[in-house]
Amino acid sequence: MMQTLTTKMKILCSTLLVLSSSSFATFTFATSTQQEQQFKQRVDKAITVSLAHLESSVQLIKDPTLFPTYAEKDLTWTLNTSHKWTAGFYPGTLWQAYKLSGDKRYQTWAKQWTESLADQVSDEGSHDLGFKFMCSFGNALTFSNDINAANYKQIMLAAATTLAKRYQPNIGLLSSDWDDEYFENSIPVVSDIMMNLELLLWAAENGGDKKWAEYAKTHALKTYQDFVRKDHSSYHIVRYNKNSGQIINKATLQGDGNESTWSRGHAWMVYGMVVMYRYTKDPTFLNYAQTLADYFISQLPENGIAMWDFNSPILQPDVSASAIFVSALIEMSDYIKDKKERQRIIQQYHIILNSLISKPYFIEDTNKAPILDKSVHYYTKPSAIDVPASFADYYFLEAINRYKQKHILTTE
Ligand code: GLY
Repeated sequence: MMQTLTTKMKILCSTLLVLSSSSFATFTFATSTQQEQQFKQRVDKAITVSLAHLESSVQLIKDPTLFPTYAEKDLTWTLNTSHKWTAGFYPGTLWQAYKLSGDKRYQTWAKQWTESLADQVSDEGSHDLGFKFMCSFGNALTFSNDINAANYKQIMLAAATTLAKRYQPNIGLLSSDWDDEYFENSIPVVSDIMMNLELLLWAAENGGDKKWAEYAKTHALKTYQDFVRKDHSSYHIVRYNKNSGQIINKATLQGDGNESTWSRGHAWMVYGMVVMYRYTKDPTFLNYAQTLADYFISQLPENGIAMWDFNSPILQPDVSASAIFVSALIEMSDYIKDKKERQRIIQQYHIILNSLISKPYFIEDTNKAPILDKSVHYYTKPSAIDVPASFADYYFLEAINRYKQKHILTTE
């Protein structure tokens, strides 16, 4: 009882510290060592509070065959079974928590939710197997020595085998699993698929078919060529004729309009290009990542939290877009050789992180399961707007982990 009270007190103090320092309208990082130190302390406090959220979430969800997707306005998770595209994010978040804390309870929970996803390996109806299996089994292989690694690898390879079947040789892309309009002979492709390429790249390096890495490269090159406009904004969907491979049209599924840029879709592309560079070391992908990232940055308000659509008159923030983007930026900054440019990106990710660990985005009540508020699940299908999302929490904790490795555990 006393221990529980002490933990609660610690969390309360941490929350107050996180929130009390968050009143700067604009964050200017690295103007002084003292300011940098204060920021690191706030990140540490945000980690403590995030871990408490996850502890609450496990107690609230209880059943490892259920996975959070987004939350209701009262901050309770909506739960789905393993078939949902979002199912990998919760085990992934638990793995990030294990990495951040070293606390074996998070590993136990992460394993439970990870292993109950294994029934999805043969789902040929999903283009999101990369999300599902990299966040869960993939993180397990990276973060844990206490798993059956051979078995986990086999599951990942089986999932990659299934995903690779979506590759369309005559268009050079993996097909989307959905569209909202019918066009004759259409193969739709969405920008989100960039996030699933890592499973193919990983598998090609870990006993799978080497040609899967070629599928990933071709998909990424074609995505940049066909989805990115001259001003480096992007389409969400491109539809191809399955016989000729010609483009039928370019449009959106989740943004405000066919000529607008849906911010989360754009963030998925930035992140995907960074991953392509990590695996291939082909400078083309780093160049694409930087170009797409510059466009994203140019559209951000002062606090670094993206609107759900960069061109919409409806000014609704989508925290998930900035959480995905900031995690990609932290990794990308490591690859940039030009010192001035690297500093500009480092400055930018501090601005975004500063907002994410602040009110009204960071949830202070640790009795609630989610960590971040104010994402948009689908604006165009108004089921969940201005609510927590499982993917926002996952990429936020991944970003915090990356930040911690880079700035807190080292002297940089
Ligand atoms: N369709 C995936 C997403 O909502 O980001």
